[in-house]
Amino acid sequence: MRDILPPESARWRQFVAAFAETVTAAGYGQIIPPLLEDIGVFHRVGEATDIVTKEMYDFVDKGDRHVALRPEQTASVCRAFVQHRPATPWKVWYSGPNFRYERPQRGRYRQFDQVGIEVLGANDPYLDVEVIALGWNFFQRLGLQQVHLHLNSLGEPQDRQNFVTALQTYFTANIDQLSDASKVTLAKNALRVLDSKRPEDFDIIAKAPKISDFYSEAARTHFETVLAGLRTLNIPFVVNEKLVRGLDYYRHTTFEFVGGTLDSAQNAIGGGGRYDGLVEDLGGPATAGIGFALGLDRTLLACDDEGVFTSALANVDVFVVDTTGGNEALVITHQLRDAGFSCDRSFENRSMKSQMKAADKSGALVAIIIGSDEVEANALVLRPLRGEEQQSTIPRSDLIPSITKALS
Ligand code: HAM
Repeated sequence: MRDILPPESARWRQFVAAFAETVTAAGYGQIIPPLLEDIGVFHRVGEATDIVTKEMYDFVDKGDRHVALRPEQTASVCRAFVQHRPATPWKVWYSGPNFRYERPQRGRYRQFDQVGIEVLGANDPYLDVEVIALGWNFFQRLGLQQVHLHLNSLGEPQDRQNFVTALQTYFTANIDQLSDASKVTLAKNALRVLDSKRPEDFDIIAKAPKISDFYSEAARTHFETVLAGLRTLNIPFVVNEKLVRGLDYYRHTTFEFVGGTLDSAQNAIGGGGRYDGLVEDLGGPATAGIGFALGLDRTLLACDDEGVFTSALANVDVFVVDTTGGNEALVITHQLRDAGFSCDRSFENRSMKSQMKAADKSGALVAIIIGSDEVEANALVLRPLRGEEQQSTIPRSDLIPSITKALS
């Protein structure tokens, strides 16, 4: 878990603001689910996945409830849908921290932030296209050039089940050729063996049965409509039949946004897909669902690598230098902030030199200086801090118009 300090924290805020703007323009409203849920909410995320079996921060609270810090927010959104029964299609977006007890490394943290969207109650391949396009467009908006969209379809639940059975048979027959880690994975979930990043598994995985051979007509048509829609929008993609995702609730379309500059073990900067059975599993009516989440921490690493969406220094407009003790700065900063300017000042009655240094460090464009001479003359000194302009003495009553002019 990390501290996010200024100025990096300002970039986080801008990131969420840019995301909010992108998705509210497409009709999504914000949901703010709690950080903590009954642990049962997350069991359906995947009882055969590490996220649920090994990585959850769960505990029994003072009321004897078994709760968990959310490892993701899709399950919370579905739980909220079941609880509040909003009109459909329900289009929501969210941001905030999630918790997974993973092995921390660059781009993989135990507390990490996501922004995401979910749509409940519409089963239409054009919605899949809208959702994927919103993720894609957001990365474009950040300025990222090296993002690759990987797509797959897991078919209908029965297609997926038939495929898993075929994989199980195939991998069991060839178990000697699997790595030890993949043998353990096979015992829990044959699908996830496809996700192995171990070179010794590559050959056996390459020859494994393919999901596309198991699609029903409906699943194939749905997926083909999604691919055609992406082509219409000129969004480049690759179909990757090995893409199985780390959560169990998916069916039909699944996708990942891969950051081209990141290490392959954690290069997914976002992912999502369709999860039509999840609301039902949580006690609600049969409801279609689709969405994605983007990893904020990891996407910003990709931005650093590509030199885009750089951190903006949080500069103030004005720095007030007061050599009379500090009360004048109190009054002037109050007046400036009231008029909508950002400004800062020194404390502890520092020397003129030390205050001017602080003014320079603040990034302010202008310093307002006041000493005993200025108090006497009911005046202020306005000193531009960048560029060639000379300082001037102004009547105290001209503070706001003079600052407006100096900053324009
Ligand atoms: P996920 O693939 O587990 O999907 O996570 C989405 C993104 O969160 C990842 O692509 C990655 O960028 C980021 N992420 C995940 N774990 C970590 C970590 N330990 N440290 C840093 N970043 C991380 C979900 O969470 C699904 N809820 C997405 C979804 C929404 N599916 C449908 N709707």
